[in-house]
Amino acid sequence: MSRANITSALKPDLLRGHTAWITGGGTGLGRGMAERFGALGAKIALSGRREEPLAETAQAIRDAGGEAAFATCDVRDPAAVTAAFDALRGELGEIDILVNNAAGNFLSPSEKLSPNGFGSVVGIVLNGTFHCTLAAGQRWIETGTPGAILNIVTTYAWTGSAFVLPSACAKAGVLAMTRSLAVEWGKHGIRVNGIAPGPIPTEGAFSRLMPDPKLEERHKARIPAGRFGTREELAELAAYLVSPAAEWIRGEIVTFDGGEWLRGAGEFNDLLDLNIPWDQLRPPKK
Ligand code: COA
Repeated sequence: MSRANITSALKPDLLRGHTAWITGGGTGLGRGMAERFGALGAKIALSGRREEPLAETAQAIRDAGGEAAFATCDVRDPAAVTAAFDALRGELGEIDILVNNAAGNFLSPSEKLSPNGFGSVVGIVLNGTFHCTLAAGQRWIETGTPGAILNIVTTYAWTGSAFVLPSACAKAGVLAMTRSLAVEWGKHGIRVNGIAPGPIPTEGAFSRLMPDPKLEERHKARIPAGRFGTREELAELAAYLVSPAAEWIRGEIVTFDGGEWLRGAGEFNDLLDLNIPWDQLRPPKK
């Protein structure tokens, strides 16, 4: 059994009675959360730019006995976001969970970025998260619906990172949004939390961010867990955080990276890679 195999700690009907809107839900991590939330009893509302993966994921959820609907929209366009949210509510009934998963990213030296390149990523990640959050939050406040928002950020939201400047800036903004709204909207019964994943192999992310197998190996080597994460593990944590079981967790960003970012941060952590003769370094016993 691989160490990535997990046993679920969740009740099989944990999300029954809830409806979850997952942006970027047709592929990758979004699809993983959509399928898992569906299996845990939630109705699933999917959105994304391309119809084909959304239709395929919705069908997979229905084939597994769940209920799902989808609507295409680019999260950068606030009118399209509102239209998609209304259409999804029309089909499935009131939505009470939002997962801001849609993202855009690419590797580039920062001095080679164009304003449009910077704006595209920030538009998807920061503005897009705001547009979806606003659509859901306004509705929930107006109707007195308690809701849960989960933002997928990244571990470099607080450290920054070379070569992904637009994403780092945008995710840092989403982190601030998470904490700000957890306080401001708490009195409406709206919870806002986040997950900061380290590397989890998906076609969308790895084709852009790990262009070379050697790079993949280097990344893996610095993860204390000794492996990448899986989208199934992410979906377990996400399901818990959006569920009523996590009612008292507010404004929290859960680091989910096998220990990777701390590995890079600790002053002496690189000693792990060296063959240190520890016994010889001790002072002789008196
Ligand atoms: N390096 C530098 N600039 C880049 C780039 C790269 N690898 N990829 C795109 N850009 C620039 C483009 O040149 C363009 O700027 P310009 O008009 O000044 O030339 C700008 O970004 C927009 O590109 P475009 O392809 O028109 O945008 P889009 O809206 O279709 O796509 C992206 C948005 C760029 C974020 C694209 O990578 C995408 O669709 N990503 C979604 C999926 C994803 O990133 N998943 C991984 C999440 S971790």
